Amino acid sequence: MNLILLGPPGAGKGTQAKRLEQRHNLIQLSTGDMLRAAVASGSEIGRKAKEVMDAGHLVPDELIIAMISDRIEQDDCAKGFILDGFPRTTRQAEALDAMLAEKGMKLHSVIEMKVNEDILVDRIIGRYICATCGAGYHDRYLRPKVAGVCDNCGGTEFRRRADDTEDTVRTRLAAYHTQTAPILPYYQGKGVLQAVDGMAGIDEVTDQIEQVLGAA
Ligand code: AP5
Repeated sequence: MNLILLGPPGAGKGTQAKRLEQRHNLIQLSTGDMLRAAVASGSEIGRKAKEVMDAGHLVPDELIIAMISDRIEQDDCAKGFILDGFPRTTRQAEALDAMLAEKGMKLHSVIEMKVNEDILVDRIIGRYICATCGAGYHDRYLRPKVAGVCDNCGGTEFRRRADDTEDTVRTRLAAYHTQTAPILPYYQGKGVLQAVDGMAGIDEVTDQIEQVLGAA
């Protein structure tokens, strides 16, 4: 099963992708995580991407398309993957179609996570992750069971993303509207687009996605 989670920054794509990964034994392919790893490693891709990401703009299509194309060729993707943060432009959507066709792979479902924008800044400003395992939390909506200790790995160090500032979130939202939202009709036309209510609680959103997948 190969899926796309689509939605604006803070819609919950990463949160739900991690849950689907575990439940369905899929691989989460987050272009944001891949780029952040490249920045941390100091690679050429990372150097090219850092300034663009920190400003909240989209990294050039060619760079992202090459990165995903290489990644889905790796053996672990044969069991199925969840694309989180890709595609984000019409050019990326068309390139994905071409690479899936070339590799004999199929896209099963594109799930749009619908949210009201006024809550997105709040979700993003309150977000933090475990510095050891990357598990995601929120100051109010998703706290560790024991304060200051990661539920997943017991780590005690946490960090926030450099692009999770209010100004940058607004730029990222603008990029979503002008460059990413136009691909929704593209997938509607292919008959693979379904929507869930991303305003619901985290568990309820997971249930809605499971219903969509059960019916797909
Ligand atoms: P990326 O890392 O993809 O960021 P994004 O799309 O802005 O999405 P986020 O990770 O901010 O949000 P999310 O939907 O995953 O929300 P989350 O689950 O964490 O991209 C970063 C940058 O990289 C881009 O700006 C761009 O520069 C570059 N880039 C990446 N891909 C690219 C591409 N394809 N092309 C070009 N450039 C690219 O949830 C947020 C918070 O809310 C969490 O704290 C969570 O606990 C909480 N939460 C989640 N769901 C709920 C809920 N239902 N109720 C209450 N709280 C919730």
